[in-house]
Amino acid sequence: MEAQTQSKRILFFPLPLQGHINPMLQLANILHSRGFNVTIIHTTFNSPDPSHFPHFNFESISDGLSAAEASTKDVIALLSLLNVKCAAPFQECLARLLSGEEPVACLISDAVLHFTSEVARSFELPRLVLRTGGVSSFLAFAAFPVLQQKGYLLNQDLRLEELVPELPPLRVKDLPVIKTSNPQTLYQLVEGMVKETKASSGLIWNSFEELEKPALATLMQDFPIPIFPVGPFHKYFPASSSSLIPHDQTCISWLDKQESNSVIYVSFGSIAAISDIEFLEIAWGLADSKHPFLWVIRPGLIRGSDWIESLPDGYLEMLDGRGHIVKWAPQQEVLAHPAVGAFWTHNGWNSTLESICEGVPMICMPCFTDQMVNARYVTHVWKIGLQLENGLERTRIKIDIKRVMVEKEGKEMKERAEHLKEKVNKCLQQGGSSNKSLESLVCYILSC
Ligand code: UDX
Repeated sequence: MEAQTQSKRILFFPLPLQGHINPMLQLANILHSRGFNVTIIHTTFNSPDPSHFPHFNFESISDGLSAAEASTKDVIALLSLLNVKCAAPFQECLARLLSGEEPVACLISDAVLHFTSEVARSFELPRLVLRTGGVSSFLAFAAFPVLQQKGYLLNQDLRLEELVPELPPLRVKDLPVIKTSNPQTLYQLVEGMVKETKASSGLIWNSFEELEKPALATLMQDFPIPIFPVGPFHKYFPASSSSLIPHDQTCISWLDKQESNSVIYVSFGSIAAISDIEFLEIAWGLADSKHPFLWVIRPGLIRGSDWIESLPDGYLEMLDGRGHIVKWAPQQEVLAHPAVGAFWTHNGWNSTLESICEGVPMICMPCFTDQMVNARYVTHVWKIGLQLENGLERTRIKIDIKRVMVEKEGKEMKERAEHLKEKVNKCLQQGGSSNKSLESLVCYILSC
């Protein structure tokens, strides 16, 4: 099999956002280790650093975004623009890559880049899709037409706590929506993603069967295409550097000095933003909890601030080393560190999965789209965390931290999280579900 794969190339096209670049490059690493040659097609916006991947070819295409478009805070408007502006440059790029001597087996595109479907079809190039989020949240996106028809998506305020019978255990407030200048843009983006995923030659998941079994069963009924849950990707190799921001390694030396299971790790991913009032409530909630904490404050996290200038004078001195603040952490290493006792997260899918892989219970603070679904699954299906709800308030935060870090319910969450971690390890072993799924994926691509 190795000899056969040596001569085949796969083209990968990640969506240029951190939470999508990481899993796509990890998947590329996995398939490279199975003998495929790898070309990463990427936009100039948020381009990965090729020097970290000398074994891959990189092809840059122009995304045509103006400086204002590239720096917009409206993620949905950005994703929609990418789907329009990248079409012609992507077409030219494919024409060039496919005119070479070397056979190209297929394209693996991010699900959100739905325009790639039509372009690949015009070259009769098989297109597989990587959906970087979870299966359960994807089913919620796929249900948008029904949810719209039943009025669950607009004017939610009066029915936030209502259960959505079509998608148990989700409530109206857990549906994967986001504030955007024009909700129609979100609906069209989701419609394009779902339709072109269904029309693809295969669907790859950074998830594993034991975690999302019922959702996968529903998916297989509704999406009659080959489906490959081969995750969690990052456990196949030690963390490789597709990070757009440098990792601050002082996190690890600081964690080395802390007691086992004592630290709260706090990070809200690469896009979410909070107000300065929320920022201060979090700061005081953490300080009042008396637990050590490692807090990632990404520049841009606090709306209207450059970084941490709105922290009260003397805050850090008062903590006397009990809090460590960085701009960006080596998150996978941090979560695997024995000192970490809980993860206060926005529940991006990568963060959620990375926490599950290390058996770390979560304090959930979802901000938008799939994060809300992920948080609901963490708290009500896997029962490995609790959700901060109804606004951020320091006294409530202190109580909730105690529930996870000290109380019996927190210890039970930890036990269940450790149990899931064991399942992760099993699914990756020879004969495990993800391992078998990867074998099928390799054979399938070879047959393309
Ligand atoms: C986005 C969306 O917000 C999320 O809902 C969707 O599921 C994926 O795309 P993001 O907000 O960046 O993702 O969150 P997440 O999915 O958790 O990905 C963040 C990645 O950055 C993770 O792989 C994490 O390990 C990494 N990271 C995060 C760091 O390397 N350092 C940090 O300090 C924080």
